[in-house]
Amino acid sequence: MNTSFRIGVLGSGKGSNFAAIAEAVAAGKIPAEMAVVLSDVESAGILTHARNRSIPARFIPPGKFRTKLDEVAERAFVSALQTAQVDLVVLAGFMRVLKGDFLRAYEGRIVNIHPSLLPCFPGLESWRQALDHGVKVAGCTVHFVDAGVDSGAIIGQSAVPVLDEDTPESLHQRIHAAEHELYPQCVAALARNEISVVGRRVIWKKS
Ligand code: GRF
Repeated sequence: MNTSFRIGVLGSGKGSNFAAIAEAVAAGKIPAEMAVVLSDVESAGILTHARNRSIPARFIPPGKFRTKLDEVAERAFVSALQTAQVDLVVLAGFMRVLKGDFLRAYEGRIVNIHPSLLPCFPGLESWRQALDHGVKVAGCTVHFVDAGVDSGAIIGQSAVPVLDEDTPESLHQRIHAAEHELYPQCVAALARNEISVVGRRVIWKKS
């Protein structure tokens, strides 16, 4: 019988957050096993990162839609996660919105990282939205995934300053660095079962 906490990661891009989590697992900071990495983009860096670490990694064609998985793809993603006996689905730059059957299969067990202090600036290029809006503090949020866009209960947040000389790129880089600290901490707390949810509030139990 498999008793370890098993993590499945979905990503469409570079995979730097995946790499940060995989390193934390390898260093024993997250009591878990990286079970599988899945991508909707065949050439995604995240798949290469995973294969370099000998973590099972698979491209699954997303189907005909641009922003969500079609029915066949949704079934294929869920089945790959179930085959890998995944306990927690970690979205790390996965550029498609998850819908009905996927959410039901992993209800309360899907998390995402978003590059803003939610509920400010949901959606795309939030660092650019933050800069354009003129906020002085930006950051990132790890949250549970629900049927909305970037709207689930907030697990953790990390703030970074917005500097007068910032460009969208420099702010994005600072937020990305904060993500690499925050996401492994949140996943570790989930793996240790130190997180409980009361309505919209996520409580961190003392370990
Ligand atoms: C991160 O900025 C994350 O907040 C967003 O997608 C990006 C993924 O980056 N959801 P990476 O692929 O982990 O480098």
